[in-house]
Amino acid sequence: MTPPPFDIRQFRNALGRFASGVTVVTTCYQGHAHGMTANAFVSVSLAPPLVLVSLDNRAYMHRVLPETGRYGVSILSEDQETFSNHFAGRTVAGMHIPFTERMGVPLLEGAMAWFVVQVVDAHPAGDHTLYIGQVEHFEARDDRPLLFYAGKYQQLRAAAAKPTPFPQDEFSLFSIGNIDPPIT
Ligand SMILES: Cc1cc2nc3c(=O)[nH]c(=O)nc-3n(C[C@H](O)[C@H](O)[C@H](O)COP(=O)(O)O)c2cc1C
Repeated sequence: MTPPPFDIRQFRNALGRFASGVTVVTTCYQGHAHGMTANAFVSVSLAPPLVLVSLDNRAYMHRVLPETGRYGVSILSEDQETFSNHFAGRTVAGMHIPFTERMGVPLLEGAMAWFVVQVVDAHPAGDHTLYIGQVEHFEARDDRPLLFYAGKYQQLRAAAAKPTPFPQDEFSLFSIGNIDPPIT
């Protein structure tokens, strides 16, 4: 029996069932800050500290990243939807972008977390490229995150949106990485 034809729209809809946060990936190219919205941001490794972003090969960022070699990731808070739209091509003319910088990499003021990353590997993957980077610097603060689900922005409805401080953080309920020295 021949499988049904692959329906790209249905595929996108299915992928959209994975709820994510929203980031703006930034870099400084020829003295100018450039940013693009991306939700394909993944934590990869704790030691060494690695993350990745998956960028469309048509994106301007894909053209300049091999030259700049470093990028910033700003995890957007709930009230930063306008920036997400702006950096996804719905440019708002004259809008003030509150860029700040760490280690020469631009970042968005007001974001919940920042990562400054040095590109250590770039894997072509279909019509995208996976930019794996080593984290050189990060900062985080408590806020409510901007979420993306089923093609729409969403808000966290949980009552306890504010994360509890480490080490009682919920992450410790799951074994997502061995950050303690092994017991011998
Ligand atoms: C919520 C959201 C998430 C997105 N995630 C990605 C992503 O992970 N990778 C990607 O290449 N484009 C993603 N995009 C699309 C880019 O932001 C968009 O194509 C952008 O205009 C590319 O930048 P450029 O116009 O400077 O080339 C996303 C857009 C939105 C609104």
